[in-house]
Amino acid sequence: MSALFCKSFNGTPIAKVQVEPVLLNKLDQLSKDLFTRSSTEEDYPVNDYLTLRGGEQRRVWPNKTDLSWLVTWIESQAREYQESAGVDSLDLIPKLANCWTITQPQNSYQVAHTHPYGSISGNLYLEIPQFSDNSAETDGCISFLFDPSSNPKALRFMHMTPVVGTMLMFPSWIPHLVYPWQGQGNRRVIAWDCQLLPQ
Ligand SMILES: [Fe+2]
Repeated sequence: MSALFCKSFNGTPIAKVQVEPVLLNKLDQLSKDLFTRSSTEEDYPVNDYLTLRGGEQRRVWPNKTDLSWLVTWIESQAREYQESAGVDSLDLIPKLANCWTITQPQNSYQVAHTHPYGSISGNLYLEIPQFSDNSAETDGCISFLFDPSSNPKALRFMHMTPVVGTMLMFPSWIPHLVYPWQGQGNRRVIAWDCQLLPQ
């Protein structure tokens, strides 16, 4: 696992980490396996059902299967983010609240939203489409929307291009969205929320 890189954007810490290939393959297979079955109501918690426009979602965790390796890994990453960000009390420990995987074809997008069930959220990119030649740089990007009230001249938006094997971590309360795109293949991610709880 390479080092976590965390930077503050208008006071909001956003981290990037590159997942090592063996683990990435394991996570990719986990996601692919879930899309071999049809969806149930449990795959669409209220917020994400309203968020998603196009594509499909499956719940990864909680799950009847033993995914303790996944829980341990996500919680350790969230803890590293928490320590790097230096904004939350380190007396509180990240605990995984939920984890899901999304696959979206071209012309899909995600409406601006927050993750109300978490404190720290993550997005790991498993598959990125081959964008059409006439694509704009923002197509398929995740865009974070910052609160300008403290400083009207500060950064308002940040667009980040998804890269396979890269995981972003960010505060669950920050609004973000995904722009539509055209091209071949899917944009597939694993996403999660951790809550900060007393030990
Ligand atoms: Fe999200």
